[in-house]
Amino acid sequence: MKGKILVTGGTGYIGSHTVVELQNVGFEVVIIDDLSNSTAGVVDQIAQITGIRPEFHPFNLQNLDLLDAFFEQTKGIGAVIHFAAFKAVGESVKKPLSYYRNNILSLVNLFECMDKHRVNNLVFSSSCTVYGQPAQLPVTEQTPRKEAESPYGNTKIVCEDIIRDYTKANPRIQSIALRYFNPIGAHPSALIGELPNGIPNNLVPFVTQTAAGLREQLQVFGNDYDTPDGSCIRDYINVVDLAKAHVVAIGRLMDKKNESAFEFFNVGTGKGVSVLELLNAFEKATGQKVNYRIAGRRAGDIEKIYADTTKANQVLGWHSAASLEETLLSAWNWEKKIRKMD
Ligand code: WQD
Repeated sequence: MKGKILVTGGTGYIGSHTVVELQNVGFEVVIIDDLSNSTAGVVDQIAQITGIRPEFHPFNLQNLDLLDAFFEQTKGIGAVIHFAAFKAVGESVKKPLSYYRNNILSLVNLFECMDKHRVNNLVFSSSCTVYGQPAQLPVTEQTPRKEAESPYGNTKIVCEDIIRDYTKANPRIQSIALRYFNPIGAHPSALIGELPNGIPNNLVPFVTQTAAGLREQLQVFGNDYDTPDGSCIRDYINVVDLAKAHVVAIGRLMDKKNESAFEFFNVGTGKGVSVLELLNAFEKATGQKVNYRIAGRRAGDIEKIYADTTKANQVLGWHSAASLEETLLSAWNWEKKIRKMD
């Protein structure tokens, strides 16, 4: 084995895909997840894909006693990838305290236990949301962060600041934050994918559910933006490509190749795609027409953002690989699988 990795939030969307890629290259993986936004069945699906069942502990990281006991019992952890967080932008506006308590206290507890139990490496799940609406595009890691549009986005900014301050105070602990753009798609096996609770907030699960007949009609939130076709532009990154970026970041820390105690990288495709372009690509890739109408703008949406991925390409040696069409087809295959269609 190449070493043992703790993945918090490992039954979630990006977490589960990352567990698969870690196992694929020979890491032993242990998952902590409170199942607040996923199901324990994901552990079985991971085992079905890789043939290796990861150890799984169902609890929330806010519980310091349980987390400390876990580290007491689980020796030899070489690094932690921390996904476990609440992530629904709209919900965070309605329940800011639960977002601040969960997302920030979880990280603080994790650092306390990593220090006590001598676990020195952390990869953190951050988000392009820290940039707000950038003045210049594409976004580089030097682009200044902006005041968050939501408590969720602010927890990402605050957590990055906690990592910066803590790794300065405790240089034994080294960290890399990956700033995701818009993760989409599913594993090619269609055994794991995005499983939104209730009505999806995000575009692609709403598209696939509309195509599957679960949703009557997709609302395109605005076509009067200053973009070529008037709809918002995002950088949609394939979830397996994104998972592989975490494996690279883990290796960089464990091989002590990082150049500072806290590094951060944009993880996107480098290509901006509009909502309407994505719908066309989906229909081209799947043959499925999507019933949609142009609706008003959604509060809090930024107009356009996409990544400059030079730093991840050159420093990590990581590149996104999947095309938008094959990624959208993987999302559609996953939707058909969970709806038991053909
Ligand atoms: C993408 C585009 C919408 C739904 C958020 C968080 C980000 C990350 C990903 C957690 C926008 C449009 C959407 C719909 C639509 N979350 N849209 N109709 O808002 O870019 O990012 O999710 O990690 O941090 O901010 O993603 O998928 O919600 O929206 O027209 O029914 O699709 O207006 O332009 P977003 P999204």
